[in-house]
Amino acid sequence: MKVLIAEDDAASRMILQKHLQNWGYQVLAAENGSKALELIKAQQPEIALIDWVMPGMDGLELCKKIRPLYDKKYIYIIFLTSKTESQDIVTALETGADDFISKPFDKDVLRSKMSVGVRIINYENEMRIARQKAEEAQANLEKVNIQLELTYKKLMEAARSAGMAEVAANVLHNVGNSLNSVNVSATLISEKLAKSEITYLQKLADIIKNHSDNLAEFLTNDPQGKYIPTYICEVSSHLEQQKNEIIENLSSLIRHVGHIKNVIRMQQFYAGAEQQQECTSLPELIENALQMNSIGLQRNNIEVIREYEDFGNIFIDKHRTLQILVNFIDNAEHALAQSTNKPKQLKIRVTKHNNKARIEVSDNGIGIKPEDLNRIFDTGFTTKSSGHGFGLHGCLLAARDMKGAILAQSRGENQGAAFILELPLKKIEVKNEHRK
Ligand SMILES: Nc1ncnc2c1ncn2[C@@H]1O[C@H](COP(=O)(O)OP(=O)(O)OP(=O)(O)O)[C@@H](O)[C@H]1O
Ligand SMILES: [Mg+2]
Repeated sequence: MKVLIAEDDAASRMILQKHLQNWGYQVLAAENGSKALELIKAQQPEIALIDWVMPGMDGLELCKKIRPLYDKKYIYIIFLTSKTESQDIVTALETGADDFISKPFDKDVLRSKMSVGVRIINYENEMRIARQKAEEAQANLEKVNIQLELTYKKLMEAARSAGMAEVAANVLHNVGNSLNSVNVSATLISEKLAKSEITYLQKLADIIKNHSDNLAEFLTNDPQGKYIPTYICEVSSHLEQQKNEIIENLSSLIRHVGHIKNVIRMQQFYAGAEQQQECTSLPELIENALQMNSIGLQRNNIEVIREYEDFGNIFIDKHRTLQILVNFIDNAEHALAQSTNKPKQLKIRVTKHNNKARIEVSDNGIGIKPEDLNRIFDTGFTTKSSGHGFGLHGCLLAARDMKGAILAQSRGENQGAAFILELPLKKIEVKNEHRK
C-alpha cells in the first residue's frame, strides 16, 4: 500500500520512512506541501501522513486540496502534530483528517494507527468494488428489463397474430359450413326449375294455339283435346307444390346467407370483445339451427327429438349461440351418418339449472374414444377425412366470450355423444313507466 509522508523536518521524515518501509509500505516522501500535492496527483497514495506545521502550504491547506482529488477512491489522512489542545484536534478532523498522531510520535502508536488506516482503506475498497458490482448489476438488470419488455411486446404481437389467425380460421370454418348449405339449396332450386312442368305448359299453349280455329270442337271431341283440362289441373297442382318447395329452399338459402353475414359481423365484435345480447327464445333459436342443418338431417334419415323446458325469452348473444348450435348439430349429423345404429336419433334438451340455461345436443352415433374426448376442443383436431377441426374450438371460444361453458360426454365408440352448452341467464328488465 502506498503511503505519502509530508514532513519538512528531514530527520523526522527519514525515521518515519524507515519505519513504514520496514512494515512493508511503499513510501513517497515530500519535504513541503506543494511537493506532496504533486506526488499525490501523480501517484494517488492510499494513506497520507501530514505534518500540520510546514513552511508554505501547511497541513490543513494541503488536506483541503487533497480531498477533492479523490472522488473515486479514499485517502486516509493522519496528521502529525505537536498541537494537543482539543480545539486543535477538532479543527484537524473537521478539515478532513481521519486521525492524528502527537509529536514526538510513539512507534507502536504509529504502527497501530497505520493498521487502522489500512483496515479502513481495505474496507473502503471492498465497499467500492461491491458498489461497482451493484451498479453493474443494476445496469444489467435495466438491460434485461428492456430485453424483457421487447420480448413481451413480441410475444403480445405473436399472440395477437395467432389470435387473428384463429379468428380467421373460425370465420372461414363457419362461413364455409354455411356456404356448403347455400350451395346445396341453390342446386336444389336450379334442379327443380330444370325439371319444372313450365316447359309442358309452353307445349300446351302451342297445341291450343294450333287449334284456335276450332278450339271448342278440339276440347270436346279430340282425345288429346279432351285430356287438356285434366292435364292443366295436374300441372297446376304440381307447380303449386314446386313453388312451395322452391320457396322453402329459398328461405333456407336466405337464412344461410344471413348466418354468413352474422358470422362476419360477429368477428367485428371479437375485435372489440363486444357482445350483442338480444332477447331471444331458445327453442326458436334451436329451430333455426336445425333448419340450417335440415338438408343433411333429412338426407341421413335422422329423427329429431325435442325436449324444451319453457322459461320464456332470455337475453343471450343470439349469433354466438346459433354458431355453437349449428356446429353441435353438424357434428351430430356426421356422427349419425357414419353410424349403423338405428334409428338415428338427435335429441335436443333445454333445461334451466341454477340460473343457467342448459342446452344438450346428444346423438346415438359413432361416439368418441375416451382418449379423444379431451382433444376434441383442440384447434385442428379432427377424425374426419374432410374435417378441419375448428368447429368445437370456435364453439369453446364463443362460449367463453358469453361467460358460458361447454361440456362433451361420450361413453366411448358407438355409444353416441352429448354436447352441453351452459349459458348464464340474465333477467330481462321490464321498464315500469308510470303514466301521469
Ligand atoms: N357428436 C359427435 N360424435 C362423435 N364425435 C364427435 C362429435 N362431435 C365432435 N366429434 C369429434 O370431435 C372432432 C372435432 O370436432 P370439430 O367440430 O371441432 O371438427 P370437425 O367436425 O372434425 O371439423 P370441422 O372443423 O369441419 O367442424 C371431430 O372430428 C370428431 O372426431
Ligand atoms: Mg365440426
